[in-house]
Amino acid sequence: MHKFYLTTPLYYVNADPHIGHAYTNIIADGMARYRRMKGDKVFFLTGTDEHGEKIKQAAVADNSEVKAFVDKGAEVFKSLWTKLNISHDFFIRTTDDLHIAVVKKVITTLEKRGDIYKGKYKAFYCVPCESFWTEAQVKEAGGCSECKRAVEKIEEENYFFKLSKYEQWLKDYLEANPSFIKPKIRYNEVLGFLNNNALTDLCISRPRKRVSWGIDFPLDDNYVVYVWFDALINYISGVGWNFKKDKFKQLWPADIQYIGKDILRHHAIFWPIMLKALDIKQPRTVFAHGWWKKGEEKMSKSRGNIVNPGDLLSALGESLGNNQEAAVDAFRYFLLREIPIGLDGSFSWGALVNRINSDLANDLGNLVFRTLNMTEKYLEAKVSSDSKVPKEFKSCLESLDKNYTTHMDKGRFSLALEEIFTFIRMMNKYIEDTKPWVLWKEKRIDEIRDFLAQLCEGIRIVALYIYPVMPKTSESIYRQLGVKFKPFSLKESSWSRNLSFLIKKELPLFPRIDVD
Ligand code: MSP
Repeated sequence: MHKFYLTTPLYYVNADPHIGHAYTNIIADGMARYRRMKGDKVFFLTGTDEHGEKIKQAAVADNSEVKAFVDKGAEVFKSLWTKLNISHDFFIRTTDDLHIAVVKKVITTLEKRGDIYKGKYKAFYCVPCESFWTEAQVKEAGGCSECKRAVEKIEEENYFFKLSKYEQWLKDYLEANPSFIKPKIRYNEVLGFLNNNALTDLCISRPRKRVSWGIDFPLDDNYVVYVWFDALINYISGVGWNFKKDKFKQLWPADIQYIGKDILRHHAIFWPIMLKALDIKQPRTVFAHGWWKKGEEKMSKSRGNIVNPGDLLSALGESLGNNQEAAVDAFRYFLLREIPIGLDGSFSWGALVNRINSDLANDLGNLVFRTLNMTEKYLEAKVSSDSKVPKEFKSCLESLDKNYTTHMDKGRFSLALEEIFTFIRMMNKYIEDTKPWVLWKEKRIDEIRDFLAQLCEGIRIVALYIYPVMPKTSESIYRQLGVKFKPFSLKESSWSRNLSFLIKKELPLFPRIDVD
């Protein structure tokens, strides 16, 4: 059995979650479920980033004690993940004791190896972005390089991690490992950056008098650990580095680390160098996906243009006949189907409704409803047959079987879904072409039996393949077909030898939504 370890970024607890956050976790969940279907032993890590001045300021503004504030924030993310059916195996918080112990151990280890020193720190700091910029960067952007707001000039003593020492190593490593950063465009971006900029050492401490909410810097009581340095370490503390040696050995290196392209620099430069300096293997792949935008702008709290997934799901559930499960799956489907992973997409209610109406209501919903209806009407809800794959299905099904795993192995959800929906549309056409109502009139019951068994089996295969993206819909279809479904396994993706279904029809999966 293969292990498969995958991670998401840790989300800051001071902001309400929005669809950008949901997107990363839905991608990771799709991959985790797919890998479990393949038979892998999956470990899926997500969590929250809870230190830093920004979070403390938010707690003060909320009139809360900081710990109580971050506890509340972590719960908000946890409950969103429950709602969205995210199947993570562990939820890490940077305020967890084990995480704190690992961060301290990392710093003392690096210090012993001669990779940490104390020096003078001069920079420009953006509080909302928690980012430091050089004078040149501030000049170029006219403020913070990320959000363009005014920055504070800072000069102070701090501890530094010797990034520059590893610059050549990183370049060589990237040259030799082109699949370390995906997609290609992000790989090229990092290489381009390294070729045009000399790496400066990373300031990894903050004076306690300025930033009080952080992990104690183990080398000096006057400092706390820089929040990004602390947070990145979660990927190894989450699997017990140095403390739970068997677990770590079993799970590390991570197989895929999903991030948004906004945090590429941290994950493709700082992170691999930190691991190298600690003598820890590199993750196999860091995958940076694109952004959901509102109009032309990235959706983010600081721009005030976020779509709250909780509100969206309530509205969607109502539009789907008060069906929250359908709303969750439709939302997951939309995010993974609408844009190829890696590219940006623009979010709108109209695009969401169109997608649901055309793919989920018209194509999938209709196919399932018609097939089950006919089975009830013509065969008293029971159908069995030893029919092989009909010739009409052959080429479509063969291409689906082959391409599904190729796309899903690479996390290309939109392409995998496209293949599945080609098969769905083919089955709808098969119904039109076969005209079962004529067969019924002519009392050709054996043909109807084969025909409906074939459709039920085709639908079962569809339900299996859509499971990583729409788990509740898969379960519902299996239930309605009267087929045992747990656990979903790719071993069951081939055509069964004896087709046998006992229909228990439920409400239509996805009613059409009124466009207005
Ligand atoms: N706390 C850091 C990450 C530390 S990881 C060790 C952070 N947190 S965040 O709350 O700002 O979340 C950033 C992540 O949220 C992005 O990398 C991405 O995964 C997701 N998204 C945030 N906005 C997004 C969009 N508008 N679109 C898509 N995903 C985006 O950065």
